[in-house]
Amino acid sequence: MSATRKAYRAAILHSVADPAEVGIEASYEYFEDGLLLVDNGKVSALGHASDLLPALPADIDVQHYQDALITPGFIDTHIHFPQTGMIGSYGEQLLDWLNTYTFPCEKQFADKAHADKVAKIFVEELLRNGTTTALVFGSVHPESVNAFFEEAERLDLRMIAGKVMMDRNAPDYLTDTAESSYTQSKALIEHWHGKARLHYAVTPRFAPTSTPEQLALAGQLLGEYPDLYMHTHLSENLKEIDWVKALFPERDGYLDVYDHYKLLGKRSVFAHGVHLCDEECQRLAETGSAVAFCPTSNLFLGSGLFNLPQAEKFKVKVGLGTDVGAGTSFSLLNTLNEAYKVMQLQGARLSPFKSLYLATLGGAQALYLDDRIGNLKPGNDADFVVLDYKATPLMDYRIQQSNSIDETLFVLMTLGDDRTVKQTFAAGRCVHQR
Ligand code: GUN
Ligand code: ZN
Repeated sequence: MSATRKAYRAAILHSVADPAEVGIEASYEYFEDGLLLVDNGKVSALGHASDLLPALPADIDVQHYQDALITPGFIDTHIHFPQTGMIGSYGEQLLDWLNTYTFPCEKQFADKAHADKVAKIFVEELLRNGTTTALVFGSVHPESVNAFFEEAERLDLRMIAGKVMMDRNAPDYLTDTAESSYTQSKALIEHWHGKARLHYAVTPRFAPTSTPEQLALAGQLLGEYPDLYMHTHLSENLKEIDWVKALFPERDGYLDVYDHYKLLGKRSVFAHGVHLCDEECQRLAETGSAVAFCPTSNLFLGSGLFNLPQAEKFKVKVGLGTDVGAGTSFSLLNTLNEAYKVMQLQGARLSPFKSLYLATLGGAQALYLDDRIGNLKPGNDADFVVLDYKATPLMDYRIQQSNSIDETLFVLMTLGDDRTVKQTFAAGRCVHQR
């Protein structure tokens, strides 16, 4: 028996497909008394405990949880590491919020010691909330990305990040140049991309803060290395959209700016997309690009309501993002609570199984990582969470009234937050214990 072999027995639930494509019943597998077998950091078997236990050696270590649900680790497809210290900043919408709060906070990341300190807080916060993979904005400083990746590597996490490229319309203390952004990004790619479980994202902040030269160099980088990510913002706020039209009058709208500079494609993730027309959805879908739906941020900044049914109609890949520090929580459970309300305000439904999909397999598919993470099929990385039905007295009492896994799952998403996450496992190792 391998020394790193371990079994986990509990109720186990994971997504196997998008409910919008296959219907709710075919979108998940649920094992009321399940067993998850982990070998060397990977899932080696998943099934009913009664089927799997008899075949296991008598001396295998089985961790048995009562009143708990094992799900895949959560995947946050849009978050800003250097905004950890300014979450919950009062009173502004996007463009004023950036100038008043965000840029001054990001300035501090020129200092590697500061970046190191915040990287520890940030990664711990991800893990406390059950997030095992995130697509992460750094600041303009390479130091920020080094600090984040060093911490992620230490814990053997699957993470994606990149240095912000920003060479105009921002304070001097926070801008690079087209040239320096290219050279610095390239050095970070050479060092980090493909190391351990880490991936690099070319990260132009958004169209207004990049010159055409910088956007062209971002596109060039994507052509120079295989499997790089591209991570930016798109159509979040109406004033922002007007500004992009004024800055790029020759282009046919916001998405077309990115399209022109070859920034669409598989592994391109656009945060928000709150105000997209049908043609833009069509173009996102046909290029394999993804959108990060960030409900707490969209509500907090008053940006608008993301139209998930429109994205589903055009088969646009959609992941879930917290967008901290415009988002108000690191918790994807909490984010799903707000996502549900965003759908309600539009007369639409968000089922608990679609929610589970968005927070796990949907995110993995948006990131083209579903052959490694997003569900618990054998061969995948053993990135999973243990959710506690008794996390709070109210949750305990409410779940006692529940008659089905559908209902329990919805309660976890409506009442849940970091308190719900009892343990987080990454590559088979416990990286957070409440
Ligand atoms: N658009 C450009 N930069 C940002 C940012 O930091 N946060 C959000 N929410 N939108 C942006
Ligand atoms: Zn953002």
